[in-house]
Amino acid sequence: MATAELAGKHLVLGMTGGIACYKIAELTRLLVKAGATVQVVMTEAATQFITPVTMQALSGRPVYTSQWDARVPNNMAHIDLSREADAIVIAPASTDFLAKLAHGMADDLLTTLCVARECPLLVVPAMNRQMWANPATQRNVAQLRADGVETLGPDSGPQACGEVGDGRMLEPEAVYEAIASFFAPKVLAGRRVLLTAGPTFEPIDPVRGITNRSSGKMGFALARAAQQAGADVHLVAGPVALDTPWGVFREDVQTAQQMHDAVMRAVPDYDIFIAVAAVADWRVDHASDHKIKKTADHRLPSFTFVENPDILAAVARLPHPPFCVGFAAESGDLDVHGEEKRARKNVPLLIGNLGPLTFGRDDNEVVLFEASGQTKLPRADKQALASTLIAEIAKRLPDTSLIS
Ligand code: CTP
Repeated sequence: MATAELAGKHLVLGMTGGIACYKIAELTRLLVKAGATVQVVMTEAATQFITPVTMQALSGRPVYTSQWDARVPNNMAHIDLSREADAIVIAPASTDFLAKLAHGMADDLLTTLCVARECPLLVVPAMNRQMWANPATQRNVAQLRADGVETLGPDSGPQACGEVGDGRMLEPEAVYEAIASFFAPKVLAGRRVLLTAGPTFEPIDPVRGITNRSSGKMGFALARAAQQAGADVHLVAGPVALDTPWGVFREDVQTAQQMHDAVMRAVPDYDIFIAVAAVADWRVDHASDHKIKKTADHRLPSFTFVENPDILAAVARLPHPPFCVGFAAESGDLDVHGEEKRARKNVPLLIGNLGPLTFGRDDNEVVLFEASGQTKLPRADKQALASTLIAEIAKRLPDTSLIS
């Protein structure tokens, strides 16, 4: 999550009755940390599960629970609160509340402000699996979707009642991701983006190998930003310890050859290819299938290396290549190496990391290399930079690849 990525957004967070209410404490914390203003409104049932005092402390604002709240000067909380909001998020959204929403009922503050809204409405269902599967609930959810209400989840898995199935609320981090995604400009709507990220691991024997210091953070941040920008995203990842960004299809590989094969299989379906991986240039010709042991005479092992395929260059050479974007991490002379590398790989855009090497760091400073010249972007945290880079890529997409 980038700090302040929801800066200036004003959310009404409507809580209805359900055990998942305790998870909304964490969701509120994430939203506030990201810069959003969070106005909590609770139904009477929600206050049975978590107190308004807790939600007030976390959101930093008084919580509303009743349409008869005398604090509102004009006594029109339902109008004032929805007028100020960029979106209303109902989390958790109970079976009962979804039913009320689907029928346009307005018998308490939260239902009334939903009916009186002009802003988008997002609901995050949370209920027992039979309640979710009930035909009436399914009818109500279908009606809400037809009315333009966004449904986030539900998830599947163990439930508070001890059963397992569909209906449990998405985890707070996933709800946060879905809300951030909802607000991101959809500059890649309808596009399909394939990325590589992370290092590769080239085995020497079953316990040893050659790898590098890439953390995968930049590639994962770009995958997340592309997904938020509306693209269908396929991420081919080397060995990294990172969570898959929400809504992104991830394929794990180890070696450069596996990464190459995964990319070449997938690439015909994609119109943008972003090669962020730090691919090992060489591999040991014949990796040993048993652990190489020290010898009594202290003889050092020797290895023959062979070159790995250049994945980016191979994609750029295809008869109908997608729009290709490369990355370059150099330890010096980026000016020279960046443009030379872009031209050698025959790609329209190459993003050069301005030294020092930024492996594992959370921020980055880059220069864009393209045939027309260079553009330096200001230092930013990797997630914010990823959103900027996605916008820059979107601007450069050739009209011929526009999807009708
Ligand atoms: N790349 C690739 N396959 C490789 C090597 C690199 O797809 N076998 C891609 C990287 O993902 C990156 C770009 O090519 O987008 C440049 O990678 P880099 O390692 O900087 O360049 P190399 O071609 O390996 O050149 P060198 O190591 O000599 O600087």
